[in-house]
Formats: sequence, C-alpha cells, structure tokens
Amino acid sequence: MDKRKVLVTSALPYANGPIHLGHLAGAYLPADIFARYCRLLGRDVIYICGTDEHGVPITLTADREGVSPQEVVDRWFVHIRDSFAGAGISFDHFSRTSLPVHHRTSQDFFLKIHEQGLLVKKTERQLYCARCARFLPDRYVEGTCHNCRTEGAKGDQCESCGKPIDPLLLIDPLCKLCGSVPEARETEHWYMPLDRFQPWLEEWFSRPDKQGWKENVLSFCRGYLAEGLKERAVTRDLDWGVPVPLSGTAGKVLYVWFDAPIGYISSTKEWAEQQGAPERWKDYWCDTENTRLVHFIGKDNIFFHALMFPAMLKAYNDNPSAEVQWVLPDNVPANEYLNLEGLKFSTSRNFAVWLADYLERFEPDPLRYYLCSNMPETRDTDFNLKEFQAHNNNELADTVGNFINRTLTFVERYFDGRVPERGVPDDLDREMLERLAAAGPAVGGCIDTFRFRAAADTFGEFARFCNKYFNDKAPWQSRKDDPAACASTLNLCVQACYALSVAMWPVMPFSAEKLWAQLGVPEDWRSHPWDQDFSAALPAGHSLGKVEVLFPKVEDSLIEAQSASLGKSRAGGTRREETQMETIDIGQFGKVDIRVALVRAAEEVPRSRSLIRLELDLGELGSRTVAAGIKGHYEPAELVGRKVLVAANLEPRKVMGIESQGMVLAAVHGESLSLCTLDSKFDLPPGTRIS
Ligand code: MF3
Ligand code: ZN
Repeated sequence: MDKRKVLVTSALPYANGPIHLGHLAGAYLPADIFARYCRLLGRDVIYICGTDEHGVPITLTADREGVSPQEVVDRWFVHIRDSFAGAGISFDHFSRTSLPVHHRTSQDFFLKIHEQGLLVKKTERQLYCARCARFLPDRYVEGTCHNCRTEGAKGDQCESCGKPIDPLLLIDPLCKLCGSVPEARETEHWYMPLDRFQPWLEEWFSRPDKQGWKENVLSFCRGYLAEGLKERAVTRDLDWGVPVPLSGTAGKVLYVWFDAPIGYISSTKEWAEQQGAPERWKDYWCDTENTRLVHFIGKDNIFFHALMFPAMLKAYNDNPSAEVQWVLPDNVPANEYLNLEGLKFSTSRNFAVWLADYLERFEPDPLRYYLCSNMPETRDTDFNLKEFQAHNNNELADTVGNFINRTLTFVERYFDGRVPERGVPDDLDREMLERLAAAGPAVGGCIDTFRFRAAADTFGEFARFCNKYFNDKAPWQSRKDDPAACASTLNLCVQACYALSVAMWPVMPFSAEKLWAQLGVPEDWRSHPWDQDFSAALPAGHSLGKVEVLFPKVEDSLIEAQSASLGKSRAGGTRREETQMETIDIGQFGKVDIRVALVRAAEEVPRSRSLIRLELDLGELGSRTVAAGIKGHYEPAELVGRKVLVAANLEPRKVMGIESQGMVLAAVHGESLSLCTLDSKFDLPPGTRIS
C-alpha cells in the first residue's frame, strides 16, 4: 500500500508524571524513527502527539496533592514536552486534550454517534462512596481482582492479568480517597455498543492489508473478537473531563478513553491552525484514499486503538449528516514492554530511568540506538545500564565512530581535507560499492515494516563492514607504495561515512547532523534524501569540515551514578506522599482518640479475602466490633488475649455486612503487615488512651 500521505501518531501520555525509558521505547522512539525515515524519503508525513489530560489518574494526583487537575496537567505538559524534545522526538505538533478545540471535537464526535441512536443509555448500579459523597469510577476504587485474585487491583483494569475490572465484582472494594467501603447506587450512562460493530470489525480484520500488521496486535484483537465484543460505557460521573454535550447531564463527562484518541485529530487541527491553513488537517484525516494512518502504542493500548477507536470512526462515518469521512488506521504497530534490569518499570516505586534524568547525564543518541537495537517489538526486552554502556562503547565508539574518525582524520591529514579521486575499483572496492548501493534500502526496508531491531542490526553490520574494509585496504600502507589506490580507498570511505550519516539520521539525528558538519554538507536533513546513490554523493575535491569525535565512550562513573539513583530520585519533583507531609497542629492530632483494646474474640469474615472480625474490650468505653484487614497476616486464634491499638472515635462504617466501630492500627510495608502493640514490660489496662 503506497499511499502518498502518512499520518503518524504516538499514544498521548497522561499529563500525570514524567516519561521513563519504557514509555520512550514503546510508543515514541519507533514512531519518531519511522516519521524521520518518511521525511528523508520525501513522503508527505506529519507526526502528531500531545498530552492526555483527563481521566482518573490525573484527578487522583490532584486530590492527593491538594491542587486542581489543571495545575497537575499544566506542570506535566511542560515537563513531558521538554523531555521528548531533549530526546529528539520530532513531533510536528504536540498538543493537549484540555484545550477548547479538543473539547469541541470530542463533543462533536459524541453527538455524531449519538444522533444515529447508536449510544445506549442505561441506568446502572455503580460504586458510590457515601463518606466522599461521590461515585467511584475507574481507579477511584481498589480491591481484589475478580479474574485473577490479585489484591490492590485498580477499578479499571487489573495490572496483573490485564483484564478489565467490573467494579461491582471487585472483591473487598475500598474507596481510594478515604478507605471506606463503597456501596452500589444507580446512575445513568451512555454505552458504545461495540457488539453492533463486531461484524464490521471482523470484516475489517479480514482485509488483506492486515497481513502487514504485527502478530502480537492481530492475536490480541482476534482474542477479543472471538470472545465477542461487549458494550462499553463512554461517560463517567466526574467533574474533570469533556462535559457530555446533552442537556441534564451535569457532573458527567466523556470517558477519557473516548476523548483521548480524538486528541490525535484535535492536535492536528491545532497544528493546521498554527500553519496558517486551518483546514489542512483534513488533507490527512479525511483523505481516505491517500492517507496512511499509523498509531504507535504500547501493548496496553491495543484494545482502544485497534478496536474501539476504529469503531468510533466507523460510527461517525456512517452518520449521513457527517461532513467528513475519517481515515481508519492503516496500521497499529504496538510494542511489548521494556523492563528495567529484569524488573518492571514502576512509577509508584520510582523504579525507573526517567528520561529527563537520563538526559542530564548522557547524550540522547546512544540511548536511541540502544533502545532501537533492543526494542520490545515482539516480546518484552530488558534495559540494562551496563549493557547500554557496552553497546555505546563497542558499537558506537569502537565501530561506527572509529571508522568515521579514522577516515576523516586520514583525509584531513594526507589529502588536505578534500575528498580524494577514485580510480578503478578492485574486488573489495566493488563489494563496498554494492554495499553502498544497498545500505539505504536495506535499513529503510526494515523501518518501513516496523522492524526496528533489524534496522539497527543492518546499520551496525554495514558499519562493521566499513571498518573491516579500512583495515583490509590498509591505506596507511598504500599511501606509501600505491597513492592512487590509497586515494580510491579514502574516496569510498568518505562515501561510506556519508551513507552512514543518512542511514543514521532517523535513529541518531543529533549525531547525523554533527556528522554532516564534519562532512562539509548542509546540516539540514532536507538536503539529504534517502533515495540517492550513496556511492558518489561527495565528489572528489569536496572540502570536509572540522573533524571531531562523534561517539565518546560512556564512563563507569556515569553509569554508577545513574544506577544509584534508581528508586531514589524522581524527575520533575517528588510526589508529596513519598517525601513530604502536611503538618497538623497538636489540637488536630488530639482529635483522634486512640485506645488500648483487648481482643476478646476473633473470626474470619466469610467471603472476604482480607477481613478478620474482632470483638474488642475497651475498658470503660465498653466493647466494640471492628473489621480489620489483617487476614492472611494473623490467625484469628493467635489474636485472642492480645492487646492492640484502635482508633476509637471514627464514624462507624459498614464493611461486608459488619458495622465496624473503629480502626485497628498496623504498620504496612509492601506485603508485610504488623499490628501495633504495646511494650510488654507494662501491663496497661484496656481503654488506656494513647497520647
Ligand atoms: N494516556 C494513555 C496511556 O498513557 C494513552 C492514550 S492514547 C490515546 O495509556 F489515543 F487515547 F490518546
Ligand atoms: Zn471515600
């Protein structure tokens, strides 16, 4: 499919925290390499992204930090945009979904689908926190996954088994804001009937162009289609997001996954506006014959990009009063995950290499090259700092950089910095000429089919050949006994440097541009199209520029410093919950009435995974029933007769049918939990107040 225009997108990152290398390798670096390659080929390409500024992760951050969601997204938008720029991610436009153009575009989408009677309105029971007086959509609730029984599963999707969570089925659900046990209440929502799009999606997936899709993406989608698609709620009870554009819907917004992919369109609209051609977004989005839409994402986004968004676009297109027809994705090259030193990247544990931190210590290009060689294309891969260092020092410094430096230094020293004349080629020269002709198409063919690892391998293999060619030709020898042969060799080596520079640009743009300066050619990529004959790019007599080391080695000390910061620092400021505390005055503290309590009886709460019911003796305060989340950590029998500490003046709350009249204090660290107890040296009576 050789469509003329290419519309490249990368998943819109949540404006909720910094970018780490896992994100970069998943959805941004491959897209950037692809977009740059398209530019070098002269294709009409735009590369679109922006921040995803709605959704529960953002409002939860705002709640936790005690600031408005707008403040959260304003801060992270700038941070994320700047990190990407530092890494050379060359978006044509980077927008944000909190802008009016995005709200308008999303509301229009909703209405175009709604107008056809396609959205199903339903009254449903959803979890509601009486204490917070609000519904608890998505991550506002946590509990034990009803699919795989992992504890701490978030209300939208289980991180452990990857399946969507039905909050009503969640085992032992708790309000994320206040820890209360929620109840189910009725509320009205709109649903996208994906089941009605199943036949069309099946037909769409059977079209021949899907043969160019990655197997991981196809098998994921086939799995969903085989199970049968279900309707999906596209609205939420929240006050942050795109308001539902229907009357009588105050307090309801579009579900973030409904509006976010539309962000690709609104970002393109903003781009067109800034180009001074406000209608130009249509040239890409609405030229269904000539545009290839390519979504780069991580594997956790496949459902929404390969099933949900196509169904939304199709639904819009089916509206007879639609003024435009949207292109459907031509490909959705999703990556698997990048791990870090054998473990998962974890934002909450701060176990990550943050892109902004990395860029303070190292150059972007060695990272881009290493991640390209090690891209999680078909399976999860691992980022290892030592391996990154070795890759830089061996491949880039000792091979690519060494060849380029030997060549350019030699020409500077013995040929007055001018490209020498080429004579009649011998066998080895002919091999170099063939490789010069093949290098571009070979690397490009890999990029064009989203095989980035193969592209890096092909590039590295060519650089190794060049180095060997230099050695085998031994120009330091021929300079003395066959000057014409020496000139010929160096001519070809200079052409090879040029070929490397162009082939390098999509992956290592900063180095390619530096190399162009050293080669005495324009530093602008527009002057270096891909489809040229690399064997005679620089004519004899052409003056080279100043020679400099292109790829310095990475020293151990830098790697050690980066390694030491894992799990410690956090780019863009620390989260309050981790290092800062809100202070309260003694009066506020004094309001909490903590007492010594004697456990009279203990039993497991049936059907609950975490609760033990305790009958407590609080001396003069009488006896209390408390539901404590300590099952699995203590046997009920071992608790009887022990003294524990209990917050005694909390409002009673219903937990799994028990009225819990207090909270037992415990220290929790990861999987471990220890009840707070008294020093056994003293025998203090039940009811004693802690102060
Ligand atoms: N913000 C989402 C995530 O980080 C990705 C949104 S992609 C979009 O997982 F298409 F919806 F924008
Ligand atoms: Zn609550």
